[in-house]
Amino acid sequence: MTRGRFITLEGGEGAGKSTVMAVIAATLAERGIVYEMTREPGGTPLAEAIRALALDAHWTGVMRPETELLLVFAARAQHVRERVLPALDAGCWVVSDRYTDASYAYQGGGRGQPAERIAALEAWAAPVAPDLTFLLDVPVEQGLARAFSRGERDRMEREQAEFHERVRAAYHARVATDAARFRVIDARQSQAEVAASVKAELLRWMDAP
Ligand code: TMP
Repeated sequence: MTRGRFITLEGGEGAGKSTVMAVIAATLAERGIVYEMTREPGGTPLAEAIRALALDAHWTGVMRPETELLLVFAARAQHVRERVLPALDAGCWVVSDRYTDASYAYQGGGRGQPAERIAALEAWAAPVAPDLTFLLDVPVEQGLARAFSRGERDRMEREQAEFHERVRAAYHARVATDAARFRVIDARQSQAEVAASVKAELLRWMDAP
């Protein structure tokens, strides 16, 4: 049995991830690939419960960065063991809307948690690395405007623009250290252009020897 491949999708707030998740799903389906779509924090009932706690705007100004970091990794530990690894082991591909890069970006860049601390949690709690990661890159102001137009803001969306600038910079730092894994997509483009870029990059990657 060939192990499934693990694809992740990342980006700041309002980058247009939902549309891209659908494009990835459609492209895999066209090729007859068996896949599962999931998200982080979340992806299992317990991990979704942790997500609700971690993002609840009620804890704005209360939740400490350390608590937040441990919560996103608690959700991930559950998700990886209950869902991601069993699927990959069964030959199924897994596409996750966010994964560990989001922790380096939000808890690392955004909250200032040391990268070594995140790496230690990753080695222990998330023992599988993505094979391919799409980063949807959009200027903070444009992304936040899109996210805010959706209504009710969660705890992250309530953060200042500077926080989101640090998140964006941290994503770019991740790309710099692991360029072969990332495909950076300019998410200022129209939805159709973003969709076409993602599809082309995905097919190229799948067809690579
Ligand atoms: P989203 O599904 O709309 O992207 O919302 C998830 C939020 O959770 C988003 O603000 C990013 C944040 N997040 C972290 O802060 N750390 C993480 O490790 C993950 C996976 C998400």
